[in-house]
Amino acid sequence: MDIHKLAERLAKAGQSHVIQFWDQLSPEEQGEMSLDLESMNFLEINNFFKSAMKTSGQSSQEKVDTRMEPVPRDVLGSVTRDRECLKEWEKEGLRCIAENKVAVLLLAGGQGTRLGVSFPKGMYDVGLPSHKTLFQIQAERIRKLEQLAEKQHSRKCCIPWYIMTSGRTMDMTKDFFIQHKYFGLKEENVVFFQQGMLPAMDFNGKIILEGKCKLAMAPDGNGGLYRALGTQNIVKDMETRGISYIHVYCVDNILVKVADPAFIGFCTLKGADCGAKVVEKTNPTEAVGVVCKVDGRYQVVEYSEITLATAEKRSTDGRLMFNAGNIANHFFTLTFLREIVRTHEPQLQHHVAQKKIPYVNTEGQLIKPDKPNGIKMEKFVFDIFQFAKKFVVYEVLREDEFSPLKNADSQDGKDNPTTARHALMSLHHRWILNAGGHFVDENGTHIPAIPSLKDGTDLPIKCEISPLVSYGGEGLEHLVNEKVFQPTLIINESGVHELVKNGL
Ligand code: UD1
Repeated sequence: MDIHKLAERLAKAGQSHVIQFWDQLSPEEQGEMSLDLESMNFLEINNFFKSAMKTSGQSSQEKVDTRMEPVPRDVLGSVTRDRECLKEWEKEGLRCIAENKVAVLLLAGGQGTRLGVSFPKGMYDVGLPSHKTLFQIQAERIRKLEQLAEKQHSRKCCIPWYIMTSGRTMDMTKDFFIQHKYFGLKEENVVFFQQGMLPAMDFNGKIILEGKCKLAMAPDGNGGLYRALGTQNIVKDMETRGISYIHVYCVDNILVKVADPAFIGFCTLKGADCGAKVVEKTNPTEAVGVVCKVDGRYQVVEYSEITLATAEKRSTDGRLMFNAGNIANHFFTLTFLREIVRTHEPQLQHHVAQKKIPYVNTEGQLIKPDKPNGIKMEKFVFDIFQFAKKFVVYEVLREDEFSPLKNADSQDGKDNPTTARHALMSLHHRWILNAGGHFVDENGTHIPAIPSLKDGTDLPIKCEISPLVSYGGEGLEHLVNEKVFQPTLIINESGVHELVKNGL
């Protein structure tokens, strides 16, 4: 390690303060710090800061508002309005899967700050009867979908699963998969890769130190995907496997239809290179981004970037004007992703998030600020929509497909373990009713399809269907039709289990 060279590079970038405690560090600490610093391009980081700050701020936010237009009807497909097409879309998607053309890519590099856990969110157990984690649920949906495609096309197939982690989540994520034997998937079809990290900066563009030998680092946003796809040779891996279509999604949605064949079929039949799944946003202050056009180009305007006045605007039918709520489920062709990685990635701007970032002062004491003292810079996964040649939007039902886990449990809370658990059980309850099954309570009394509020609580019927039994509600009739169950009900590969009757 050459400290002089490092000091020179830092001085050139106006970041010399980063090594202000150098002489107080042990040789090990010096070694670790120089390892971290040597791989960093400080001039590039300064440039990121300058351009991110230029495009952020109130005035540009207002400007975005005035330039927003809703998604036009002709690019929109809908599970409710286009019911007659669903079978065809699904069939096409399953065909692509059977031909080994489809991969899924999970964005799992976030830090789960709002949920307040120290481990990756995918390892979270929301308290389902089976106690499955989000990772397990997703893995089993992939396995089931492979089986469905294989059955329909009488050939073996595989949906490779690419999992993007960050420096903070990689080891724990990998260990978890090893510990659980990849949840029944083949190890070679689960590919982990790591996104980049960036230092937090103060408002003057100085890198923040969170310790005498430690920079305040954070993942570079889920749009860090595109740089990582290139640097980690993921595009190459996809090419080698013959992948043409990729479903990219976020880790936290318990209802996510991983590699949803209908979504894939819709996008491919429309000839799209890029697509987004949305639910109707009905509440102006809901924390979801909205898919829209800005200056004629498709984009998601994030909930933190829209003004309330615009979020509240309504169309003549009374619905929110910007109601295409982004649920972070995207479709890309590999051709499009390749083009992004090769050409457009460097043009993507970082978004700025003002944060309270703990820092060490010049005396080396750790200070926890009570108001924002700096920024984190992040690219967003949907920032590439603007480059699509053919962009489509696919609207699905919230109760079937969107219940994200963002926050810790709290009374009347939103998007937390309880709401996620309830959303899944309520969906599975509907699947059972639709397949001809019924529920009774502990006294044998029939429970109505829409259970009335009991003791002031609105609890769903406790039931859970393993994804290995049903991906989207199919194939349940022979198990439940004309049968009566008492909660808690679990349907899994080994059969139908009523926990109370079995004394469990
Ligand atoms: C995200 C969407 C928002 C959408 C909402 C729906 C983005 C930028 N925003 O918001 O438009 O309405 O989901 O639930 O996609 N992640 C990384 N690396 C990072 C940061 C995040 O992989 O550096 C991953 C997370 O692990 C998670 C996903 O990206 O799987 C979403 O991140 P999060 O910060 O929770 O996004 P939201 O603000 O909820």
